[in-house]
Amino acid sequence: MAITVRENKFILETKNTICILLRNDKYLEQLYYGAMVPDCDLEHLENRQILNFAPYDPALGLKYIYGARLYLYSGANTGDFRTPSFDMTDGKGFSGCRFRYKAYEILPALPSDYALPRVRGERETLKIVLTDPEKRVDAELYFQTVEDCDVIVRFTRIVNRSGERIVLRKAASLQTDFENGKFDVISFAGAPGDEMRNLRRRIVQGKTEISSLFGVTGHSSNPFFLLCSPKSTEDFGECYAFNLLYSGNFKAEIDCDCHNNVRVVTGINDATFSWTLEDGECFDTPQAVSLFTEEGIGGVSRRMHALCREHIIAPKYAGKRPIVANTWESFAFTVNEEKVKAFAREAKRIGADTVVLDDGWFRNDDAENLGDWELITDRFPSGLGALIDAVKQEGMEFGIWFEPEMVSRKSKLFKAHPEWVLNNGDVGSESRNQYVLNMSDPDVIEYLYGVIAGYLSKYDIRYIKWDMNRYLSEVGSMTALRQGEVWHRYTLGVYRLLDRLTSDFDVMIEGCAGGGGRFDPGMLYYEPMIWLSDNTDPYCRTEMQFAASLAYPPCSFSYHFSKGEGTTGRHSEPFFRWLVSDFACYGYELDLSRLSEEELRACRMFTKKRRKAEKYINEGDFYRLDVDREYYYACLQVLRDKSAALFTFLQVNAQIRYESVVVRLKGLDPQSRYRIGANNQVYFGRTLEKAGLKISDLLCPHFKTKDPLRIAVEGGKSGSGISFEIERVDD
Ligand code: DGJ
Repeated sequence: MAITVRENKFILETKNTICILLRNDKYLEQLYYGAMVPDCDLEHLENRQILNFAPYDPALGLKYIYGARLYLYSGANTGDFRTPSFDMTDGKGFSGCRFRYKAYEILPALPSDYALPRVRGERETLKIVLTDPEKRVDAELYFQTVEDCDVIVRFTRIVNRSGERIVLRKAASLQTDFENGKFDVISFAGAPGDEMRNLRRRIVQGKTEISSLFGVTGHSSNPFFLLCSPKSTEDFGECYAFNLLYSGNFKAEIDCDCHNNVRVVTGINDATFSWTLEDGECFDTPQAVSLFTEEGIGGVSRRMHALCREHIIAPKYAGKRPIVANTWESFAFTVNEEKVKAFAREAKRIGADTVVLDDGWFRNDDAENLGDWELITDRFPSGLGALIDAVKQEGMEFGIWFEPEMVSRKSKLFKAHPEWVLNNGDVGSESRNQYVLNMSDPDVIEYLYGVIAGYLSKYDIRYIKWDMNRYLSEVGSMTALRQGEVWHRYTLGVYRLLDRLTSDFDVMIEGCAGGGGRFDPGMLYYEPMIWLSDNTDPYCRTEMQFAASLAYPPCSFSYHFSKGEGTTGRHSEPFFRWLVSDFACYGYELDLSRLSEEELRACRMFTKKRRKAEKYINEGDFYRLDVDREYYYACLQVLRDKSAALFTFLQVNAQIRYESVVVRLKGLDPQSRYRIGANNQVYFGRTLEKAGLKISDLLCPHFKTKDPLRIAVEGGKSGSGISFEIERVDD
């Protein structure tokens, strides 16, 4: 049973973990969270530390010091000086709240009115009601388990029963307390063009914050993070990992107090949040997820991948990722009817299946027409319908680019509705010559739904690239009064629009925010894949994709075979570019008409190979393999039943000295025998795991064939590599 209630204990079990909550006297505490243990002899763990100078419950005396206890949700201003999850101001102006245990209930599913992105599936839900009896405010904590991923899902509903208006100052999604915690934290850092860097640091006394104030999750931050024992490696060690299904300003706080108690709080960033609740109203936080594993950082990644792939991304997209040919890096704003038609013909020849008309179909440069969404008829004289027909005649689907949340000063929309632009009373800043629409305003959502739904109903469009090319500033609403709510309502508005469009139409949306500026589980709930970065240099992309794989599955990030100069201008060979794009969502993004026949032949081969590899990217378990990262990257994507895998090895720096490279594989069945696609040799899974595969011997011969892939480079050079299938041999 995933959720059990026994005497005063609430027990949440997954395949390998257990979390035990204790209803202790008046309060709800966490007794244990970690590897699976019997639940009957843990009472001794209850934290009864007596701390100097520390407030305690007068009825329970010194044995009940707030600051020592491990809580699930703490209000501010209560004598527990660790970071609170919650704060509010009541009608008298008093702040803070102390939650006591009140009741519990087991529900068959989430409350039906929960309207934010969620871990999918009807699952048993434990609802524990905490209350502040004086202030008459409840925090309802909702817990679910995803057993196969070792994940616990949580969200909190704040209910105002006070008889008066209260204002929420902070309402986090999740709090977890650890006693005597000694951790490293690994999180994402980065920048536009350099997204998803992994950053590892030691937790020391004080606060560590991972957050965003960009209005989106941001290029330089991400709500995912993990806490691991300092000795943890890729394959070993205890790790707790967290993520948030939210795409706006978030804040994760890791607070280590002077007794080495570590508190984790994650949720909406309170710096840009306040929310008014009238009597009887409630507020729902985004969902947060946590997991525990003893299988190191790789164990975290595989569980998080499975969670995203199987429980967050909509099942209708499972195993389906089109091979897209996108016009942006070929034509940018010069795109026109003739070019797209020719592009579609070439795209068909190389085996792509969806042509995506990126930016430029409604404007000549980035300073105009955002918001109006009218085709430039000078450049598309036959109209959109005729263009789509032409693409469809090539046997391909058609996709189109929108940046719905934005408006140009030079647009009809801006003139007609200046009040629809975010505005806090100051002159709004421009970024990329554009302003942000106030997505918290239902009229704006209605307008955008009308425009996009209009295109989707009139034309056969099955794919949208949804871009977002600036951060939010001067956030305020000219059409509503509660300014503190605008940031969060903006995100809710984006979700509402995505929800309506993806429910009402058979359309797949690729997310993008100038690359990976909004890459998070909240967006993945609606968009099965997200353009990871605008930097298409394959060397940079190699690093980024391996880094992103810390939390997100390769089937969720897109990277297209392109000229590959990215933002660095560095030259790279086509084969290397293909290898790198092939372990993400694949596509093409270069002027196909400029490719030589040999190059086109190679692309056809790339597509063919890709189609064979698709199942590994879409369904496989991802293993980062141990190689010297100064020179190499290697991974194995193993089908769930371990019958086959895709091996990818990338050389990012040349080795001056010849060095033999042996890579130990992971995730195969040790007892089974496997055939290596590169040389047809057969080895036991155990041999490949313990003794490894000698890659240096495979690299060079592979390139000495007449294979069109030979337009690559010889193995061993910088920007080379190899990929092949490994298949179980049936005896
Ligand atoms: C930024 C995106 O990341 C690019 O791929 C492209 O769609 C441009 N915007 C178009 O303006």
